[in-house]
Amino acid sequence: MFSLLFTSALVSSGFGGAHAWFRVACTSPLVSERIDPIINFGQIPSNHVHTIHGGSNFAANATYDSLLDSECTSCKVVEDKTNYWFPKLYFKDPADGKFEEVSNGGLLIYYQNRGDEDARNGGAGLKAFPEGFKMISGNPTRRGTKYALDDSSQEALSERAQFYSCLRYGSADGYDGYGFPTTDCESGLNARIHFPACWDGKNVESADQSHVAFLTGLDNGACPDTHPVGLLKLLYEVTWDVHAFADRWSESDGWPFVYATGDPTGLSWHGDFQNGWELEPLQNAIDKCDNPNDDTGYGSTEACSYLTVQDSAVADQCKIDPVVTETIGGTGVKLDKLPGCNPLQYGPDDAVMYMDGNCPE
Ligand SMILES: *[C@@H]1O[C@H](CO)[C@@H](O)[C@H](O)[C@H]1NC(C)=O
Repeated sequence: MFSLLFTSALVSSGFGGAHAWFRVACTSPLVSERIDPIINFGQIPSNHVHTIHGGSNFAANATYDSLLDSECTSCKVVEDKTNYWFPKLYFKDPADGKFEEVSNGGLLIYYQNRGDEDARNGGAGLKAFPEGFKMISGNPTRRGTKYALDDSSQEALSERAQFYSCLRYGSADGYDGYGFPTTDCESGLNARIHFPACWDGKNVESADQSHVAFLTGLDNGACPDTHPVGLLKLLYEVTWDVHAFADRWSESDGWPFVYATGDPTGLSWHGDFQNGWELEPLQNAIDKCDNPNDDTGYGSTEACSYLTVQDSAVADQCKIDPVVTETIGGTGVKLDKLPGCNPLQYGPDDAVMYMDGNCPE
């Protein structure tokens, strides 16, 4: 499974020429459960199952201070007690309609110096995520695409922030696009999502995510006037091991994988971020670990002296027990319903997010 973490399509796609970045790798999850401290703060359970990585004080009511007090992190950078989470993927068996969890090789988070605000682009310099900062990229209710590819509105950028590569090494017909592919991906289904990198400078969170904005070019460009503070641009990358199910479906059955949101389209792919960084090391990493003359200019986290990289074996021991006691998966476990009984909603209209109670008594 571990190899899936590094089958990145990015490295070979002109990524190296851009300005620096560092990576936070998270392999073995902290916990997987129906908790969402951003969308459903304080509420247990939340709508859909997430895989959660990072600081061990993850909780429905976690705060910046409580995260910083975490005993450990399941990710590799010690100064970072952030929580990162994303929806779980399930295989819906065409033979019996039941759901099985799909494994992945962990989460890789790229912290990228991008946009006109970056000092190396002549800007004022990027700022560390402030205390209490939270954000989501992507939309759990999305089931269709609405915007033209040349539309640069924030809504259109949000739609294009999430994208997939069906990794088919040794085969000509790979796929890159904004929803699920239709074929098996022998080397995994690579799901990525860009985050907004511009902040309004005032609000650390908002229900409609209006406290943050995407760079005009999504991956580069300017911050809108309304959101003048440049942040590091995050990119989440997960590779799902869909190939493990290849002999159990055929293209005539239709694509059989669905997210925990009840999404068979892939368009609800989203990522969540709740800041748990020690601010000083992060600001130092931004300001001083972006040197084109050493390995920090090439994405080496270890080369940044302000960050402490722990062994994977140590990170992998950082676990917490779920507070929602329900079966959400496990090797060979078949579920009659998605956790929370989320129904499949095919779109293209936005899905309705049913809260618990959707399950019959
Ligand atoms: C979250 O709620 C639990 C249970 O009520 C409480 O013990 C804990 O202190 C709360 N955490 C924070 C950070 O408020």
